[in-house]
Amino acid sequence: GRRVEVKRGLTLLEAARVAGVGIRSECGGRGACGKCLIVVEEQKSLSPLSVSETRLLSSDKLKAGYRLACQSVVLGDVTVFVPPESRLEARRILAEGLSRRFELDPAVRSVRVILPRPSLLDTTPDFERLCNALKERGFREVKMEHELLQKLPTILREADWDVEVVLWMDEEVIAVGKGGEEKGVYGASIDIGTSKLVLHLVDLRSGETLSVKTVENPQTVYGEDIISRINYAAFEEGGLRRLQGLVIEAINSLIEEACREAGVKRDRVYEVTVVGNTAMHHIFLGYPPKQLAVAPYVAVIRRSVNVKARQLGIKVHEFANVFVLPNIAGFVGADAVADVLATGIYESDDMSLLIDVGTNSEVFVGNKEDIISCSTPAGSAFEGMHLEHGVKAVTGAIEKIRIDPGNYEVEYETIDGAKPVGICGSAIVDAVAELFKCGLIDERGHFRKNINTKRLRRENGVVKFVVAWKDESATGRDITVSERDIQEILLAKAAIRAGIAVLMKEKKVSEEDLAHLYIAGSFGRYLNPESALLIGLIPDIPLDRISFVGNTAIAGAKMCLLSRSMRKTADELSNRIRYVELTAHPDFRREFMNALFIPHRNLSMYPTVVKRISRVRGA
Ligand code: FES
Repeated sequence: GRRVEVKRGLTLLEAARVAGVGIRSECGGRGACGKCLIVVEEQKSLSPLSVSETRLLSSDKLKAGYRLACQSVVLGDVTVFVPPESRLEARRILAEGLSRRFELDPAVRSVRVILPRPSLLDTTPDFERLCNALKERGFREVKMEHELLQKLPTILREADWDVEVVLWMDEEVIAVGKGGEEKGVYGASIDIGTSKLVLHLVDLRSGETLSVKTVENPQTVYGEDIISRINYAAFEEGGLRRLQGLVIEAINSLIEEACREAGVKRDRVYEVTVVGNTAMHHIFLGYPPKQLAVAPYVAVIRRSVNVKARQLGIKVHEFANVFVLPNIAGFVGADAVADVLATGIYESDDMSLLIDVGTNSEVFVGNKEDIISCSTPAGSAFEGMHLEHGVKAVTGAIEKIRIDPGNYEVEYETIDGAKPVGICGSAIVDAVAELFKCGLIDERGHFRKNINTKRLRRENGVVKFVVAWKDESATGRDITVSERDIQEILLAKAAIRAGIAVLMKEKKVSEEDLAHLYIAGSFGRYLNPESALLIGLIPDIPLDRISFVGNTAIAGAKMCLLSRSMRKTADELSNRIRYVELTAHPDFRREFMNALFIPHRNLSMYPTVVKRISRVRGA
């Protein structure tokens, strides 16, 4: 146990932050998500139950001493137990993604130059002397920061005019050191996800990745979803600076760990490339993100950004540059540009569909002629949020589910084979697909009546299906999928499916025209394509056209670290990719309503699913 002394009047969620104890808080402590569950036996030292607690906690839970950490105000000494389902545990983070071959041409390179010594006959100043030597090596005019210029005379003389010059984009000298000492030139690529950070440390001369590090995004304690973070940045005093500081601090720790592992000195890291969704991009750069959350969802900037690392507080070489990939629109960010870059759909003759599933899922349809994109407000149900027993991909999360159509018995697999703590995104899709396949739910996601199995029961008016019994689970409670959970999943899948339908219609392409379906993101990585097809999340195309491409956001960031032409392409793509605002599209609502059915209101669009269902149910 951990002890902490806090001021009277703080909530238990705030006290947990002070103590460094991670408690889930999807809604950012607004009393809306019900995920910050804690158990307190002696409740006299806590504020009385709030309206949110009486609404979100069942009478059984209240009797067992459950409270919501964000609603319980500390009035005196109290002992708190954080149950497994509320803990922010280390989870499986997808750190690699598909990439393509490209020419190694990083923005930073080092050259050795030997300068002629000054004399009474040659009094060329130091900087011009260096420029002339570089020109002889074929470089154009270069510039240098004032602070480096202040050090230049000493460096040149101490190096006896034999120097290693590090250039950025061949236009700025960012470091000068003693020549002839092999020290290496390194860079880092970072994917700032809403919930996780991934960093790759790369040798810029060979293109080799030397170390990969991941960590939960520390901003998560201020809310797990983008809107909570934007609200925190917008309405809390100093909120934006605090969120920016947290992510920079985490990046600095990752750089330190990666450098230590690879035996690289931090000050040999001369370039950093960064991707993230638009909100993460804005917070990282210290741009106010408030306007992203309100119509018409306008970003501060679309094009790529170059900024000195030290201006952001990133601890690498003092004159290193940070390149932040461009955005496309309010909710289609730099990470989505990286997805397109890494999959290469923009240079293929074939028509492709690319989906990056996340809190906001980005969808692209197109080929080398033209690409069209949208962002679908899928919410975070696929990440296990807003579901009674939903969890992220942590140890003990159920990740695969099979239901026997004969006796409705369940087989499941958990991450690391641990006792189940809840159900993660991929298994929730499995659950809905299996319940439908077995005829336990109808096409609207409602449990059918008159089905006889002990796994089905009604609790407080809500029908639930037991996936894991309490004696099998780590939480000591039955792990269930409720009708309410199924509706959450159907809302999320309908948003994505409607986005796909609108884009396909705009591009005038049919299922037959789609040569490739790329699914990016960690949710996609563990998704069973048959289940995704069965619930109608993806169009009915042959499964061999589907590729799971992993974390293409980091792959795209790394391509920009290693290739200047990829940076140019990223900016071109951000200009070229058309964006469709779904909320303003006349067909979106209809497509959304159609997609609320399993697999779809129009069954003729899902011949494979219809055949499969009749085979299983007829058997
Ligand atoms: S209800 Fe407490 S954090 Fe959401």
